[in-house]
Amino acid sequence: MVQEKVRIRRDIETMDAYTPTTSLDVFAERLGIDADKLIKLDANENPFGPSPRVIKALAALPNMHVYPDPESGRLRDLLADYTGVPAEQILCGAGADELIELIMQLFIEPGDVIINTPPTFAMYSFNAPLYHARVCDVYRRADFSIDVAAIGEAVSRYDAKLVFLCSPNNPSGNLISRDDIEALLDLPATIVIDEAYIEFATRESLAPLVMDRPNLILLRTLSKWAGLAGLRIGYGLFPRALMPQLWKIKQPYNVNVAADLAACASLEDVDYLLERVHQLVQQRERLESAFAELPYLSPYPSQANFVLNRVRGMAAGDLRDKLARAGIIVRYYNTARLDDCIRISAGLPAQVDRLLDVLRRLR
Ligand SMILES: Cc1ncc(COP(=O)(O)O)c(C=O)c1O
Repeated sequence: MVQEKVRIRRDIETMDAYTPTTSLDVFAERLGIDADKLIKLDANENPFGPSPRVIKALAALPNMHVYPDPESGRLRDLLADYTGVPAEQILCGAGADELIELIMQLFIEPGDVIINTPPTFAMYSFNAPLYHARVCDVYRRADFSIDVAAIGEAVSRYDAKLVFLCSPNNPSGNLISRDDIEALLDLPATIVIDEAYIEFATRESLAPLVMDRPNLILLRTLSKWAGLAGLRIGYGLFPRALMPQLWKIKQPYNVNVAADLAACASLEDVDYLLERVHQLVQQRERLESAFAELPYLSPYPSQANFVLNRVRGMAAGDLRDKLARAGIIVRYYNTARLDDCIRISAGLPAQVDRLLDVLRRLR
């Protein structure tokens, strides 16, 4: 309990903390293994790291003593070229995570309901109570497809303003079908689709739809395809009408000068980065077929840079621990619909070799 004179929100005192992944150094200390020997496949980071142009640009980063451009003007112009959506409909944030919060700040009045479709990325439901929103979970089917009819019923029952969806979905890796997208956009709610992993998918982003759909928001990030997770840079593609309201509430200097410059340098090196994305997709495909051969793993098909597996005949937590002792960090789940699951990110070819070697020796 916090001291009596210091009265923070009671709901925060009693809420559970979110357990995020941590840095290589912290894992190294926990496991007693040198950081450079660890293979970190738990957070869908890009093991190739950023473009060499980013390293060069940051080494000569000017004006660290001056606040950044609050409008991220150059970056938004480059993002407009990259996405095909006008800069006037783009807002940048310290990761897509920040934009999830910004959307809640913009929409939620105390007691409002948001629709969430678990199993999915945890931040939508984690952030909701902080903005006094209630969460209605409309569970995905066994194959992790969404149930649009049930989402529609929940929207009308709770008069929900916001539906949060993820495509490709983290952690299952599947896309939302085009028919489902159309049906969702007909609902009387704003549909937020998190496309953090879209660069790894066989289908294009829904970006062109943002220009004529008043209720579609897309979230994108440079954490995954551009290898900038540590710098925290993401963006949203918003309906025009929302932009003046978003500009009012955004923290003025939310994107720091290093993240801004790194994102610009990445967008000037898109072909190079997308070639690496292609290589990661090849490693993911390698993982999918190798996992399917193992008696104790059942992989789900993925359109992202990771593979979710159901673990059979052994406890998924034990598998996670055995891999950790071998210096390989993976993500373990034991929540509803994800019991006995582990998610493994695509690594560099040599990292995948090592992972498969360790897995094949396990029984
Ligand atoms: C679906 C999804 N959205 C958003 C994020 C966070 O993105 P960012 O690093 O841009 O905050 C992640 C990170 O794992 C994610 O999986």
